[in-house]
Amino acid sequence: MKAIIFDLDGVICFTDKYHYHAWKQLADKLGIYFDAEINNRLRGVSRMDSLEIILEKSTKQYSQEEKDAFAEEKNEVYKNLLQQMSTADLSDEVRGTLNELRNRGYKLAIGSSSKNTKRILKQIGLDGFFDAISDGTNISKSKPNPEVFLKAAEFVDEDPADCLVVEDAEAGIEAAFRGGFKSAGIGEAHNHPQVTYKLEKFSDLLRVLRN
Ligand code: G6P
Ligand code: MG
Repeated sequence: MKAIIFDLDGVICFTDKYHYHAWKQLADKLGIYFDAEINNRLRGVSRMDSLEIILEKSTKQYSQEEKDAFAEEKNEVYKNLLQQMSTADLSDEVRGTLNELRNRGYKLAIGSSSKNTKRILKQIGLDGFFDAISDGTNISKSKPNPEVFLKAAEFVDEDPADCLVVEDAEAGIEAAFRGGFKSAGIGEAHNHPQVTYKLEKFSDLLRVLRN
């Protein structure tokens, strides 16, 4: 392995609750049922695709313009909530593991569907830390399409076969597999049949990468 590509939300830090609040506010306004279980389905899924999942419970049909406005409205609420994040939202475990991986000489990159990636990295004090960032701003197809990871590999100038993808979402493990990457899965990502390594905790990466 030469490079490690990390998903952001659910791996490096936890923004689930903010996504949930922001989507819930929009869903309530539109009178659409939304719960934590539906929120789980949004992991790794782009903003517009997430909106489509939420609208599955709607009885109304909306135009593309209306949908764009809904996504924008949700993002404004979400961005406001992100302002609460600080360096305290980066755990000692994640920080220590990242530093140790860097000491071992791996290239470190981000592969996230989020268009707010840079904003979040700044909030948690990881601005400028990664060798490359591939995110929602440089892709047109969301996970499970491998585009975001293929771009990350390209940005660090390594072959997918030499990169390990770290993910919490099944869609992310699927994307890694389709792109020819090995993967390390946390939490729900264990359920995917193609996950290469199952991590109980983030720091297990140090053990897995010794082999
Ligand atoms: C991450 C999250 C998803 C979110 C997506 C887009 O992958 O896991 O839940 O929908 O990013 O985020 P954005 O910040 O661009 O709305
Ligand atoms: Mg994730």
